[in-house]
Amino acid sequence: MGKVISSFLRGERVPGNILLRIEEMSKRIVVLGGDGVGPEVCDVASNILDKMKLRFEILKPPGGESAMEKHGTPLPHETKRLCEEVDAVLFGAAGSFSSPIINFLRWEMDNYVNIRPIKYYPGVTTPLKDAEGIDMVILRENSEGFYPPGREGDISQLAEKWSDWRDKLLGRRFQDYGIGKFSIRIITEQGVSRMMKFACEFTQKRKGQGYPGKLTLSTKSNVLRESCGLVQRLAEAEIRRYPTLTYEHFYIDDMCRRIVRYPKDMDVIVTTNMFGDILSDEASELVGGLGMAPSACIGGKTPYFEPVHGSAPKYAKKNVINPTAMILSVKMMLDYFGMEKEGRHLEKAVADVYREGKVRTRDQGGQSTTKEFGEAVLRKLG
Ligand code: NAI
Ligand code: MG
Repeated sequence: MGKVISSFLRGERVPGNILLRIEEMSKRIVVLGGDGVGPEVCDVASNILDKMKLRFEILKPPGGESAMEKHGTPLPHETKRLCEEVDAVLFGAAGSFSSPIINFLRWEMDNYVNIRPIKYYPGVTTPLKDAEGIDMVILRENSEGFYPPGREGDISQLAEKWSDWRDKLLGRRFQDYGIGKFSIRIITEQGVSRMMKFACEFTQKRKGQGYPGKLTLSTKSNVLRESCGLVQRLAEAEIRRYPTLTYEHFYIDDMCRRIVRYPKDMDVIVTTNMFGDILSDEASELVGGLGMAPSACIGGKTPYFEPVHGSAPKYAKKNVINPTAMILSVKMMLDYFGMEKEGRHLEKAVADVYREGKVRTRDQGGQSTTKEFGEAVLRKLG
């Protein structure tokens, strides 16, 4: 293939179908570090991707904290336009400045599926006695619920608009509550259905790879009978169409306990936005903490890949944070592009560093720096 590409670059004639394959292979991506430790982990991960020589064009337009001074915004217009054009975005984290980037990548782009694998790599520090074999995926609905911005306000606004609305049980009106705030949790049929369809297909595909084919739904439908009730009803209608999958449902409070007690019994967990956010931070600790938890946000215009963690401002610019979550997010991007072989190669390099145990960042009980970890992965990649 390398020979064909170099002939192509020299302008020599090559067969049309090979040209097509070249086009398929080359990907353009944008890297946006964001705030806090985001730029550090992105630098390490994009450097690794660059060194893998996979014909990626890696663009680093201004964005995040560093763009604020020069451009007055974390997301200049040109950067936004590029994000819409490319094949994927690698994003670090939002802290004090970059929430407009998340608003754009997640909600304006409508990336409604957030895939959060929780996998143990031998050698990683964990509070569990035996974490070997933990290998689950949390699927978090990313577009609905409480989180999309702008759905909060003063109770007085509700009182003004719906003066005769009353609680079903206590009969209270909004104006009876006094001064306070509200948040609205929106759950739609369309939003739930598309997520559950994805969850079923994802679990089915994993089953084909040798996983148990079990989908665990978690809601709070015993209390939130309308909104979570809708989620459960539509999920169960969808899963009935996949008779080869095993299905179970747990209330979210019970789920938080089970994920600690029976982590090896979990395969794919699907839940709503805020529950998935909380559950995945919790689950990350089973496999070494937030430094180990990657994610993919897909389904919308341009997919983007980011660690589960945030900007960890305390550790920013200290070169001490663990870049594994971001590196494994690159692996998820490679898988997304169908480059599973390359993805496995990268994952193995990370796993080998942990298995060997010589290079460990502070969260893993070592003294190695962020950059040293990246270099260790590069050495394993060969
Ligand atoms: P955080 O995820 O930034 O950090 C919590 C703690 O986890 C850190 O203090 C550190 O002990 C540990 N940690 C996180 N990443 C690590 C890594 N790569 N290696 C080793 N240890 C790591 O969450 P926090 O402190 O609640 O939020 C900080 C800021 O990040 C806030 O402004 C928050 O809104 C934002 N945030 C952004 C997210 C995003 O961009 N997707 C996600 C979560 C939080
Ligand atoms: Mg979170």
